[in-house]
Amino acid sequence: MALLDRTIVKLLPAVPRPVVQRLSSRYIAGPSVDDALRVLADLNAAGKLATVDVLGEEISNADEARAIAGQYHDVLARIDEEGLDANVSVKLTALGLELDHALCAEILENVVSDAAARGSFVRIDMEDSSTTERTLHLYRSLRADGHTNVGVVLQAYLRRTYDDLEGLDNVRLCKGIYVEPASIAYRDFHEVRANYVRCLERLVEQGSYVGIATHDEYLIDEALRVVQGLSPDRYEFQMLLGVRPDRGDQLVADGHRLRVYVPYGSHWYEYSLRRLQENPKIAGYIAADTVGRVLHF
Ligand code: FDA
Repeated sequence: MALLDRTIVKLLPAVPRPVVQRLSSRYIAGPSVDDALRVLADLNAAGKLATVDVLGEEISNADEARAIAGQYHDVLARIDEEGLDANVSVKLTALGLELDHALCAEILENVVSDAAARGSFVRIDMEDSSTTERTLHLYRSLRADGHTNVGVVLQAYLRRTYDDLEGLDNVRLCKGIYVEPASIAYRDFHEVRANYVRCLERLVEQGSYVGIATHDEYLIDEALRVVQGLSPDRYEFQMLLGVRPDRGDQLVADGHRLRVYVPYGSHWYEYSLRRLQENPKIAGYIAADTVGRVLHF
């Protein structure tokens, strides 16, 4: 990333919310479940699968956690009714992880059971490292209780990940987006990539189902090498809504499964900041937005 872009990334929290919202609209389906459903239908029509994220990591009480869970039940019902090929991704903090562990476990199990009854699947996103242990524990407990329609996420930037992946049945592997100290995380771009490939190879070797979540061309190439000869139902590529859709089309045309992560809802701010921080052209977009508004007035 160029120096100007890196500087802008640091200043992003100071950018007014309406500007952040405008710039990040490509990454989010919209505020309502209908917006998400429309995007899912378009993705399915293009041969892509989807996973829906109800944005909600900024919640602060148990009622809000239950309300987010309620939205997940609605989404699962709508996906089922409309015959869409999509599952859901949940963030445990949105389901109350930081408020009450037992409440979060109960809400999560209800969502997983509902998904199972509808032939669907729940992916537990991975958040910052303060949640890693608790997230893996909840995932393992669900699997131990016989829930086979649940998977978890591992982050290649964490040094612990190669050990964590041992014996896990269903893993989405991503680089990781939170800011973590060097004592527990690789900070060098090449080290993260190298650990990603090492973890992916091990996951495939041990027979896990793998969601290969990256837009990094180097990693996509490496993943294509690793999955060569593997049956297409053993893995899927995964991308975020609004990021490299053309590359996604190409993967689908080449016969790979591709799932797109579709966030929707009113709690859009934190997610938007993370996506903008990763956009290599962020400075240009902010400049264009500012110039656009200046010309408008
Ligand atoms: P990298 O950031 O190097 O991007 C590669 C290229 O993709 C860029 O050069 C650019 O061309 C393009 N690109 C990437 N981001 C862009 C953006 N925002 N706008 C425009 N272009 C962009 N993380 C986490 O910690 N926990 C999780 O649960 C998840 N879940 C998750 C699900 C899915 C489906 C994906 C794809 C990713 C995640 N992530 C995640 C995020 C992940 O950890 C990582 O931060 C991003 O995927 C970016 O890393 P890349 O591997 O794409 O490489």
